[in-house]
Amino acid sequence: MHVPVAIVGAGPSGSLLAWILRQRGIDSIVLESRSREYVESRIRAGVMEQNAVDLMVKSGIGDRLMKERYYHNGVGIGYKNEHHFINFDELIGIGVTVYGQSEVTKDLLGGLANEGHNVLYEAPVTAVEDHHTNKPKVKYTHEGVEKELTADFVIGCDGFHGASRKSIPAADIITHEKVYPFGWLGILCKSPPMLDVALFSHHPNGFALVSMRSDTISRLYLQCAPDEDASKWSDEQIWDELDVRVGTDDFKVNRCEIFEKDVAPLRSFFSEPMRYGNMFLAGDASHIVPPTGAKGLNSAFADISVLSAGLIRHFKNDDSSVLEKYAEVALRRNLLTQRFSWTNTAMYHIFPGSSSFDRRMQESQIETLISDELTQTVYAKAHTGLPFEYWPEL
Ligand code: APR
Ligand code: PHB
Repeated sequence: MHVPVAIVGAGPSGSLLAWILRQRGIDSIVLESRSREYVESRIRAGVMEQNAVDLMVKSGIGDRLMKERYYHNGVGIGYKNEHHFINFDELIGIGVTVYGQSEVTKDLLGGLANEGHNVLYEAPVTAVEDHHTNKPKVKYTHEGVEKELTADFVIGCDGFHGASRKSIPAADIITHEKVYPFGWLGILCKSPPMLDVALFSHHPNGFALVSMRSDTISRLYLQCAPDEDASKWSDEQIWDELDVRVGTDDFKVNRCEIFEKDVAPLRSFFSEPMRYGNMFLAGDASHIVPPTGAKGLNSAFADISVLSAGLIRHFKNDDSSVLEKYAEVALRRNLLTQRFSWTNTAMYHIFPGSSSFDRRMQESQIETLISDELTQTVYAKAHTGLPFEYWPEL
C-alpha cells in the first residue's frame, strides 16, 4: 500500500493532522498502537491557548468545544495564603480556555470515525525506514500480522515513547533533557469549579494547582515526590494539604468525593531536527514540557498548524516552501514554550535542597509578577498568546 501521508499515533497531534488534511481531501492513514477507548480516556491537562481553540473551530471540529468550554479572562496566583488575579484579557485581549484534553481527543477521533477515516487502532508501528527516499517505509503489526506500507511523507505523532523519533540514527539527532526532582499528585473529584479561574500556588510545602473540568468535576494537583505512591495519600490528607497550600482566610477547598488519583513525573525534553528526510516529528514525539502552564497540547497544535499548512500547499499548490521551513519554524516556537514551561515550573515549585537565597529569589519573582504590569503582560503573552506562524488554508 502507498499513501500520501502516513501518520503514526492518534493522540491530539495525529488526530488533528488527519482531520485537517481530510478537510482538504488529502488522503492519510493513521496507525495507533492502542485502542480508541484507551486513547480517549487518557487523563491529561485541560487548558487551551486561543490559537489552539481557533484552529479547532476553523477546521470545523470546534462546536462542542465552544459550547462546553470555560472561558477565563486570566489566572489566579496563590502566594503567602492570599489569592491574586492576573487579567490576561485586559492586558493582551486574550483569555484562557479550559476544556479537557480527553474531550479534544474524543471530538477529533469521533469526527474521523463519523467520516469513515482510515484510523487503524491496535496497530503499533515497529519501524520507520528509508527516510531519505521518496517512499519512506512504515512497518507495523495489525491483528497479529506484520505489515508495511510506504508514503510520500511519514509523520511521527507517536508521543515521547513512540517509534518515529527512535528511528533516527543517534548520530543524526540531538536531544536535550531536564528531569525535575518532583512530580504532581493529581486528583479528579466531584465538585463544581472551586474558584472562578485556575489558581497556581507557591507555598513552602510545595506547589499546588486548583483547576476544573466541568460544572461537576474539578481537577487539583499537589507537588509531590516524582515516585510518590498516590494510593498512600488518604482523601483527608490530600484535602488538608491543599488547604495548607491554597487556603486563605476566606477560601477552603470543597472536600468532595475523589474518584481518581494519579502521579505524573515532570520532565522537559526536546530533540532536533524535527524533520529527518521525509519523516516529520510533531508534538510529544519531539518535545515534552512539564505541565505547569499546560503547554503540551498547545505546542502539539502549533506544530500541526505549520505542518498541515505545509502539506496542504505541497499537495494542492505544488509549493513545498512551508514544508521546507517546518523544522525551523516549529523548533523556534517550541523553544519559547520550553523556556516558559521551565521558568514557570522553577518559579512555583519548591526544589529539594534549595538554599534560602534560591527561595528569596523565587519570592521576589512572584512578588514582581503579582504587582508589575509589564511582567504580567509578558506572562500573559507566554501563557496564552504565543502566535502560530502558519495556518492551514481551510
Ligand atoms: N505506533 C503507533 N502509535 C503509537 C506508538 C507506536 N509505536 N507509540 C505511541 N503511539 C501512540 C500512543 O498510544 C498515543 O495515542 O501515539 C499517540 C501519541 O499521543 P500523545 O502522547 O498524546 O502525543 P501527542 O499527540 O503529540 O499529543 C501531545 O498530549 O501527551 C500529551 O501532554 C501531551 O498535551 C500533550 C499532547
Ligand atoms: C489542568 O486543569 O489539568 C491544568 C491546568 C493548568 C495547568 C496544568 C494543568 O497549567
